[in-house]
Formats: sequence, C-alpha cells, structure tokens
Amino acid sequence: MNTRTVTVVGASGTLGSEIVRALLKKGAHVRAMVRATSDRSKLIALGVTDFVVADLMDPAALQRALASEPRAAAVIASAAGFSAHSARTQGDNSRTDTEGYRHLVDAAKQAGIPRFVLVSILACDQAPDVPHFAQKLLAEKYLAEKHQPYIALRAGAFLDRAQDVVAGKVRKGIFPDIVPGVPMSMIYSPDLARYAAHAALDLPASELNQSVDICCDVPATGTLVAAAFTRVLGRPVVARPVFPSFVVALLPLVARFFSPRLRDQARVLAWIRKGGYVSHDSQRQKDLFGTLPTIADSVRRYCRDKGLC
Ligand SMILES: NC(=O)c1ccc[n+]([C@@H]2O[C@H](COP(=O)([O-])OP(=O)(O)OC[C@H]3O[C@@H](n4cnc5c(N)ncnc54)[C@H](OP(=O)(O)O)[C@@H]3O)[C@@H](O)[C@H]2O)c1
Repeated sequence: MNTRTVTVVGASGTLGSEIVRALLKKGAHVRAMVRATSDRSKLIALGVTDFVVADLMDPAALQRALASEPRAAAVIASAAGFSAHSARTQGDNSRTDTEGYRHLVDAAKQAGIPRFVLVSILACDQAPDVPHFAQKLLAEKYLAEKHQPYIALRAGAFLDRAQDVVAGKVRKGIFPDIVPGVPMSMIYSPDLARYAAHAALDLPASELNQSVDICCDVPATGTLVAAAFTRVLGRPVVARPVFPSFVVALLPLVARFFSPRLRDQARVLAWIRKGGYVSHDSQRQKDLFGTLPTIADSVRRYCRDKGLC
C-alpha cells in the first residue's frame, strides 16, 4: 500500500475519475484538482475528500493548489480543453491546452513536485495540423524545457471513447466505427488509468523524462473490435460507420464554419483516416508496465464493467 499524495488535474473528467479509482486502489491519498464549476459527485462517491479548486487559466490558484500540504509526490494531468465534456464551459478551449498547461507546469516546478505524469496522445509528434495533438507535444516539450521531471503517456484512442457511447450501441448489436477499414491503436481507459497511477507512485525516477506510447498489442479496425464483442457476448455485433461517407467527404470543405473544437475533430478524423494513429513502439510500454493488453481481453473487461454480459 502506498499512502503518498497524488494530485489529479482534470479529476472530474472521464479518464480523471478512473485515475482516481486506480490511485485509491493502490492506497494513495488523492487530491482532486477541480474547477469551481466541476461536478464532484462521482469523486465524492469514490471517497475523495481532499479537493483543491483551480482553473488551468488561473496561475495563482494553481500555485496555491500545488503548494498544499502534504506536498504531492506527483501530479497526474488528465485535463483537456478540446473535449466534448469541456466544450460546455468555454468556446475556444485550445488556450487551456497551451497556456493552461504551461501555467500548470510552472506551478508544479515552483512547488517542487518530483514528478509530473502527462496524459498525452499517441503520435502527437506526427500531426502538426491537428491542434489538440500538436498541443500535447507542446506540453511535453515545455515539461522538458522547464526541467520538470515528467513522463508522458501517449495514449491511443480510448476503446470506451471519451464520453461512453459504445455500451448503448453494443446493446443494439452495433459497434460505432469512426474510421471504417482503418486500423487504430486503442486502449481501454482503465488500463491507461492504472499505468498513470503506476507512473506516479512506482516507476523508478530513472524512467522519467520520456514519452511512452500506450495501447493494446495490435492496432484494430472497427470490424475487428466488433468481432471481439461478438465472441465475448455470443451474439452478433457489427461495425457501423459513425459518419455517412458523404459527411466525411464534405468535412474538410465545411470545417472552417465549425467551432474550433469541431474543426479540430474534423482534422483528427481526416488524419486518422490516413492511418497515422498507430504505435510503432510498444517496447517501452512493455518494459515499464508489463504485457500489453489485447483487444479481446479489453473488450471482455469492458463488457463485464458495463454489465453487457
Ligand atoms: N478520448 C480519447 O480517445 C483520448 C485518446 C488519447 C488521449 N486522450 C487524453 O486523455 C485525457 C482525458 O480525456 P477525457 O476524455 O477523460 O477528458 P474529459 O472527460 O473531457 O475531461 C476533461 C477534464 O479537464 C477539465 N478541464 C477542462 N478545462 C479545464 C481548465 N481550464 N482548468 C481545469 N480543468 C479543466 C474538466 O473539468 P470540468 O469537469 O470542470 O469541465 C475535466 O475534468 C485528455 O488529456 C485527452 O486529451 C484522450
């Protein structure tokens, strides 16, 4: 058991609350960093009692939050401006992911936090035209530039998606396929949460200051994931495109009329369709976190966790 304190930034988010769960399972003391407007109910239900309130756009509040005693042994940053969840509160959230993250790194450095676990994105160094990918790379670079000890977990697409729309569709025999026919590296978010908790509490300091791809053992198409659901549930689940092909074809033309977040999403889609969302280095993940999860096992656990079987 590990009783050290870990501050989770973006704790009210989908992955954030999974990270909290993984830390509590290890016996850590969780300090949840939330905004004044964040919904804390899921965190309170998990047993979190230590809350600090700070917005990434408020450097003074971040400094106060990270200076709280006992000083945190690690910060895990899972906050994201460019997400459907966060879109409710701001128009252009890219400032959160750029300026906001710089403020957070500065505050961590000032408070002497010994390690910073950044939830980053797979292939963020290969997608300069996709804002929310490129912004993760900027955050990684800023951590290195400021000599803040860090590890960046470059996650593949969440099998369970950001806001879980998968379970409801699977109940109807459909796996929502974002990019039909194109393999992507994926990860079930509780696995990523477990790795983040391990990185915060257990990895030796000699493993810090690197970026690590995080995904299942092989990239998968929607059809392959649907087949895994079919096997686990013993009834047919078929991959269905989320977007009709004419919408996908029109997206680049009409994207400029979208909000910044939707424009970003259109770029993500176009980029993933080119087949770039694939890890080419799984060795580091193996070395740090053990055997890679398989799609079949991830789907099995997902079905169990969501009460699908
Ligand atoms: N979904 C994927 O497939 C995928 C793949 C790879 C990596 N990731 C990364 O995984 C991480 C977690 O994603 P998620 O889908 O779990 O996120 P999410 O549910 O959208 O949660 C976002 C969190 O960020 C917080 N936040 C937003 N703006 C903030 C600000 N200005 N100051 C402080 N907190 C702020 C939100 O707080 P409120 O509750 O107050 O709004 C919320 O807790 C993100 O960094 C994302 O980029 C996702």
